[in-house]
Amino acid sequence: MDLLAQYLYILSASLFVLSLKWMSEVKTSRRGNWSAMAGMVTAIVATFIAYPVQHVPLLAVAAVVGAIVGIPIAMKLPMTAVPQRTAMSHAFGSLAVALIGVAEYHQRAPAVDPFTMSVLASEMILGFLTFTGSCVAFAKLQELIPGKPFVYKGRHLVNLGTLAAAVVTAVLLVLHPEKTFLVPVLAGFALLFGFLLVMAIGGADMPTVIAILNSYAGLSAAGLGFVLNSKILVVAGTLDGSSGLILALIMSQAMNRSFLNVMFGGVGAAPTGGAKAAKETRSVKSYLPEDVAAVLDGARTVMVVPGYGMAVAQAQHAVKEFADLVEAKGGKVVYAIHPVAGRMPGHMNVLLAEAQVPYDRLLEMDEANPMFPEADMAIVVGANDVVNPAARTQTDSPLYGMPILDVDKARSAVFIKRSMNPGFAGVDNELFFLPNTMMVFGDAKKVMTEIAAAIKKG
Ligand code: TAP
Repeated sequence: MDLLAQYLYILSASLFVLSLKWMSEVKTSRRGNWSAMAGMVTAIVATFIAYPVQHVPLLAVAAVVGAIVGIPIAMKLPMTAVPQRTAMSHAFGSLAVALIGVAEYHQRAPAVDPFTMSVLASEMILGFLTFTGSCVAFAKLQELIPGKPFVYKGRHLVNLGTLAAAVVTAVLLVLHPEKTFLVPVLAGFALLFGFLLVMAIGGADMPTVIAILNSYAGLSAAGLGFVLNSKILVVAGTLDGSSGLILALIMSQAMNRSFLNVMFGGVGAAPTGGAKAAKETRSVKSYLPEDVAAVLDGARTVMVVPGYGMAVAQAQHAVKEFADLVEAKGGKVVYAIHPVAGRMPGHMNVLLAEAQVPYDRLLEMDEANPMFPEADMAIVVGANDVVNPAARTQTDSPLYGMPILDVDKARSAVFIKRSMNPGFAGVDNELFFLPNTMMVFGDAKKVMTEIAAAIKKG
C-alpha cells in the first residue's frame, strides 16, 4: 500500500509540473487546469492510503462546507474579480499552513530539534505574513480601502524592524523551544509585517504583490512539507513558490520596479490624479462611433489597445467583429498587449483568445511600441494606466517608471471609455487632451458594436 501511495505521489507531482507547462499558453491552459485538479485529487487519495487519517467525518464536513462556499463563488465570480479571489485563496491557504505549523509545534514541544524548529518558525512567519498581506491586497483590489500606498517617513525602518523582530523571536524559539509564549509573539510580528508590507504598496503594483504572496504561500507550504515529511507538499509548495517568484520578477521588470522595493514595501507615490481630476477645467471633444468609422476609411494599420474596460464590458467579441470588418476593407489589425493590462496576468490574451483572435496578432509591448508611429489609428478599448504618459514624466505619480504603450505616437488615437475617470492608479491622462485624440464615451461593447455597424454601412 505504501508503495502504491509513493507511485501516486510521483504521478501527482508530474501532473503539477505538466499543469504549469500547459498553463503557460492560452491554447493549452484548460488542459493545465484539469491536470492540476487531477494532481490534487491524486495527492489526496495517496495521503489517505499512506497515512492513518483520523477524524474522517470531521474532514468530510470541512470539505462539504468548503465546497458549498467555494463552488458558487467560483461559478458566479466575474473574471475581473479573479485577482482579489486569488488574494483570498492565498490568505486562506497560508493561514491554514501557518496554523498547522502552530499545531505541529504544540504536538512536539518542548522536544523540538533545532532544524525542525527553524523550519517551523520560518514557515509560520511566511504563512502569517502572507495571510494579512493577502487580506490587505484583497481589500485594495476590491476597493474596500484606498489603493494608494500608505507611506510615511521612516516606514522602511518600521517594516524592517517588524520583520527583524519576527526573525529574532524565531531564533529565540530555536534556542528555547520550550518557551511556548514566543509562538504568539512571532505570529503577531509576522501578521503586522504582512499588513505593513502591502499597505505601503500602491494599487498599480498589486499584480507583483499578488505574485510575491503566491510565492510566499508556496514556500511556507514547502517548509511544512519538510516538517511533516510529506514529499508531495515539498514538491507542490516549491513549484508554487518558484513559479510565483518568477512571475513576480517578470512583473517587476514589466513595471520597471525594483524587486527588493516591492518585497519590502513602499512602491509608488501617493496618486495625484484624484485631486487633479477635481481641478481639471479643460474640456475634451467627444466624438461619435460614426466619426471613428469615417477616419478609419482607408486606414492601413490599426492597433487595438485593450484594457480593463474591455473586460468589464465583455467587448472582446465586438472588437473581433470590428477587426474583421477593417481587414475586409484591406486594413491590418494588431493588438498591443501591455503585461499588466486588465486585472490579472494574461487577462487580455485570454479574452481575445475566447473571441478567436489569431494568436499571432497579439503583440507584446516590445514588439508593439515600434509599430505605433506607423499606425494610422490606435484604438484604446477601456485601457488607461497602460497608455498614460504620466508614467514617463510625472515623478510623483504612482505610475512613474512603468513602461507604457506608445499610443501617443500613432497618427490618431481613439479612446473608448465611459467618462473622464482615471484608471486603476487614479492618475489623470494627458492623452485625452491631445489634438489627435478622439474621445468616444460609452460602454466599450456598445461603442465597438456601433463602430462596426457604421463601417458596415459606410
Ligand atoms: P485601467 O487603468 O484600470 O483603466 C481602465 C479604464 O477602463 C478606466 O479608465 C475606465 O474608464 C474604463 N472602463 C471601465 N469600464 C468600462 C466599460 N464598461 N466600457 C468602457 N470603458 C470602461 O486599466 P488598464 O489600462 O488595463 O491598466 C490596468 C491597471 O490595473 C494597471 O494600473 C495595473 O497595474 C493594475 N492591475 C493590473 C493587474 C494585472 S496582473 N493585469 C492586477 C491588478 C491591478 P471609465 O470609468 O471612464 O469608463
